[in-house]
Amino acid sequence: MPSSPSPLWPAPLHHLALESPDPDRLADFLAATLRMRREPARGGGAVLVGPDRLIVLGPGPEPGARHVAYAMDDPARVEELRARFTSRGNPTDLADSPFFRSGSFRVSAPDGVTLVFGAPEGPPPATEAGGLCGRLQHAVFRTPEPEPLLSFLVDEAGFVLSDRVEDDARALTAGFVRSDPEHHSFAAFRASRPAFDHFALETDGWNDLRDWADHFAELRVPIWWGPGRHGPGNNLFLMIRDPDGNRIEISAEMEHLDHDVPHRVWPQEERTLNLWGTAWMRA
Ligand SMILES: [Fe+2]
Repeated sequence: MPSSPSPLWPAPLHHLALESPDPDRLADFLAATLRMRREPARGGGAVLVGPDRLIVLGPGPEPGARHVAYAMDDPARVEELRARFTSRGNPTDLADSPFFRSGSFRVSAPDGVTLVFGAPEGPPPATEAGGLCGRLQHAVFRTPEPEPLLSFLVDEAGFVLSDRVEDDARALTAGFVRSDPEHHSFAAFRASRPAFDHFALETDGWNDLRDWADHFAELRVPIWWGPGRHGPGNNLFLMIRDPDGNRIEISAEMEHLDHDVPHRVWPQEERTLNLWGTAWMRA
């Protein structure tokens, strides 16, 4: 019997709010490498606007993500989701987002992860002809205990578990959850301390990865990992690093799964994280 979707479904990742000890430097880097327009933000910092990609930057003592925001097309679903959190004992607060209509809200997940949900004010700018396409698609965090974070996402928020990666003792080393048919819009990796891990731009195909890599080459920004193909998600990828150490992934061909497709389990090994070769094993 198919389960009834949470009010969350579908809710693609819409924007990120990042913190940086040097937001000016990070804004300049992201504007150039991701071809985004830099605008001043309310209350300081910067807003970066690109085709299908939006990032808010503000000052913080350490690099990290202030929140990750998911878009729901109907304000009534936003209200319904907020009521679901409240009824399950999870406090929420109204969010002040430059991109969402009134009624958007924030909720705290384990390990300092903050989720925002809202209905967008309008469609994001489209990719211009000849531009580099890359839709903001997923965000990933590191945590010493991924199980409670993933449980919160699934049980409280209504994300759907797509894949688990487990070590020899069957302990969770990575988990991938989806909020629409794309394999994951959020993931968590086990590591020694909580941290923001990476975000990804999803492109239209393999040739786009080539074009992004050529663009990075012109800027003398080296590829940090890849190209490769992940096991969970089956997506092609390459990654660069920003000046704060955040990884930025350019991805293509992310697997699609319907709401009721059951999750799979992968072994914790390099091949799982990169079917083509060596992997970034978080420590
Ligand atoms: Fe990723």
